Amino acid sequence: MNCLEQCQAAFLAQFGQKAEHVFFAPGRINLIGEHTDYNGGHVFPCALTFGTYALARKTSTREVRLYSLNFPDTGCITFSLDSLTYQKEHDWANYPKGMIAYLRAAGYDVSSGMDILYYGEIPNGAGLSSSASIELVTGVLLKGIFKLPIEQLELVKLGKQVENNFIGVNSGIMDQFAIGMGKAGHGILLDCDTLKYSYAPITIDNYNIVIMNTNKRRELADSKYNERRSECEAALKKLQTMLKIKSLGELDEQTFLQHQALIGDSILIKRARHAVTENARTLKALKALQQDKLQEFGELINQSHISLRDDYEVTGIELDTLAEASWQQSGVLGARMTGAGFGGCAIAIVEKDQTDSFILAVGKAYKEKIGYEATFYLASIGEGAREITKEANL
Ligand code: GLA
Repeated sequence: MNCLEQCQAAFLAQFGQKAEHVFFAPGRINLIGEHTDYNGGHVFPCALTFGTYALARKTSTREVRLYSLNFPDTGCITFSLDSLTYQKEHDWANYPKGMIAYLRAAGYDVSSGMDILYYGEIPNGAGLSSSASIELVTGVLLKGIFKLPIEQLELVKLGKQVENNFIGVNSGIMDQFAIGMGKAGHGILLDCDTLKYSYAPITIDNYNIVIMNTNKRRELADSKYNERRSECEAALKKLQTMLKIKSLGELDEQTFLQHQALIGDSILIKRARHAVTENARTLKALKALQQDKLQEFGELINQSHISLRDDYEVTGIELDTLAEASWQQSGVLGARMTGAGFGGCAIAIVEKDQTDSFILAVGKAYKEKIGYEATFYLASIGEGAREITKEANL
């Protein structure tokens, strides 16, 4: 039995009938442009080929029943369409519940109950956006089974609202956007201020993108994430006393250097400097990639990590060990942390025929320094969230 056949069997066992529809939403990595989304800057993420599956069937009741093969101990979570409030004990199921609540609040006719079974391939808490993946797979599922007239971009925005207001994590739009709008073989350059975006082919054919998981969960870091956001807001306020800007993303490096003294606090200057230089690096990296200047692309990726380590201070010994060990290996274009930081994953761009020795060497260096193993995966860049009922052929 393949993975989806197993999901279908579990669906039947759990709900007494077979699922009629199958949906998928990927995880994501960010190539460059970190902690720039909520600062109105640019990001350059891509969707992965692994992610979250959801099998579903409408019912004639008003009851929603959710089950995840990843959290069998939590059991089946049941609630009514008429009581869609956040409940701590509903744990992971608050993500889909939030999507149902927000789609209904936006006027979409989610008109009956349903049974949904989830199966996620994304390691939890690894910073590859398993939560945004659950939000978006639920979004396309509700659109699909209730035939809702809603654009993918609206689902992306609703996913972010769920994360910010229903779950209470103050994240930017990058994760939901990458997962909703991803395209196979392409990165997405997104201007997080205007939401203008374009796809750029990732033409690094002789290289693998290696994902390196610190196996240190990044969950506990949410408070630090919010702290960085407030630090950037505080720096922006000071700059606004002289400059007519709405976000740090509007500043070029030159203008920032000329006005940084306005901020008047060395920590806040470092935070803002990261936001400004990272935004510039992201645009430079895209250009380098388009001009096939791969060494330059890799160097910008390394600089991104250094700025996140020294100015933004969101890396920590685990991510630093992975990035720094990667830089020392032959055949490596560049390496950096990806996502929010404080744990989670880093990425490295490594020549295909050097990948095995790379993984051995970095794995060894990590184990020696940190005391436990890192995990390595090869990333393939896939499509965004969608219905896959036909391909699944269940
Ligand atoms: C997390 C957030 C994103 C983004 C990144 C950092 O993944 O969910 O919105 O801020 O951190 O770039």
